[in-house]
Parts: sequence; structure tokens; C-alpha cells
Amino acid sequence: MIFDVLTIFPGFFTSPLAESLLKKAIDKGLIQIRVKNLRDYAKDKHRMTDDYPYGGGAGMVMKPEPIISAVEEVKAEDPDTLSVLFTPQGKRFDQQMAREMIGQKHFVLICGRYEGLDERVHLAVVDREISIGDYVLTGGEIPALVFIDALSRYIPGFLGCAQSVEEDSFAHGLLEYPQYTRPPVFREMAVPEVLLSGNHAQIFRWRRRESLRRTFQRRPDLLDRAQLSDEDRGFLRELQTQEGMAGG
Ligand code: ADE
Repeated sequence: MIFDVLTIFPGFFTSPLAESLLKKAIDKGLIQIRVKNLRDYAKDKHRMTDDYPYGGGAGMVMKPEPIISAVEEVKAEDPDTLSVLFTPQGKRFDQQMAREMIGQKHFVLICGRYEGLDERVHLAVVDREISIGDYVLTGGEIPALVFIDALSRYIPGFLGCAQSVEEDSFAHGLLEYPQYTRPPVFREMAVPEVLLSGNHAQIFRWRRRESLRRTFQRRPDLLDRAQLSDEDRGFLRELQTQEGMAGG
């Protein structure tokens, strides 16, 4: 998978891409990340990438020419490239969107600064506008890293072989069950007995129920879309009854 990243702050990407699994994926050739400085696409002698807004107002607006030239350069090299602009006005990013995007092999990611981007950029070269959540960041660099990270996890060989994206929270629409490791008792907090039992069927059932319990308590909105068995529904009814009794 190739990510071309357009930014006026290329240094932003140095350490996140030099650590941990993203670094390994780059070293293994599973992902290729090419960070391009938008200033290199500015034509004027001061290499300006922003300018004052027509009509007045606070803040600067990113000029259209450098971004459009940079996107067109990437698309000329590979016409199948999908261009993504990060903005709080975009469609909300989630696990399902990440999954839907993994068929795409080449992205050009446009990191705008939050104050704004000349509207003609959207019209000329943007295929998708994506928001990573309902809050405002200073620019699209962190969203671009979030996007790269979430998609890369789907590439075969990216995660260790024991791990699978399909075991993640959200993959089945539920939050994850609690995990424990040694020691068995820490500050009088004991690991649940069932996890030490070696009984895999019981462990599986306990984990499923804890996932359901967490989702019910923390993110009940996810339950509407989750794939639930009859047994799951029965357990959720029990939780509802318990809650009703505690409340009343
Ligand atoms: N740029 C600024 N805030 C953002 C957000 N929440 N998502 C994507 N891009 C952004």
C-alpha cells in the first residue's frame, strides 16, 4: 500500500513512522510512505502555501496551486490513486470505513491546516473528505497518521501472526473483554478464576459475556449494529433486568 502525504510540516511524520509496527511495515516493504513538502510545489519565490482570505476575516487560507499540482503529479503517475482530504467537515472515520478502504492500493493524503483550504482544491482534486471525530485539530497531519495506522493493520503480515484484526474491538461491533497477565493476584485484585481454569469453552463464554457487558455499559449504541446470537440477547436482557433492579 502506498501513501503519499502532502503537508507543510513533513517533520510531523518522522518519529511516528520510525517506531514500532509502522516502522517494521515500512522496512518489510508492506507500506510505502512518501511525505511531500507542499512548499516544494509553490511557484512563487517565497514558496508561499497560504494567503489572506478574500472577503476578509481571521486566519490564512491554503492556496490552491501547490496542493492541486502535488495531487495531479501523484495521479499522473498512478491514475488509480484515491485522494483524501482530512477535515472536520468530512465523513466520520470508523472501523467499517477503514475496512472498506483496504482494497485501494494507493492514497494521496492531503493535510490541510484547519483555518481552511481554497474551495477549488475540493472541486478539482479531492475524492473523499474524512473527519476522524467531532473535535477540531490544528491540521490534517494527525488524522493522516490515524488513517495510515488503521488501514495498515489490515495488510497481511503487518500484525504478528498470533494477532488478527478480526479479533479487535469493533471488528464484531463489540468492545473488547478485559485481559490479564501474571501475577495471578496483584494488590488483592485476583485474576478471574475462569481464566486460570484451562477450560476453553468456559473462557470463550466468559469473554463474550464481558464484551457484551462492557458494550452495554459504555457504548450501548454499538449493540444496535452488532451481530448477536440468541444467547447474547438473553444475557443482555439479564443485564437490563439487573440495571432496572439497581435503578429502582
Ligand atoms: N482537521 C482538523 N480537525 C480534524 C478532524 N477532526 N478530522 C480530520 N481532519 C481534521
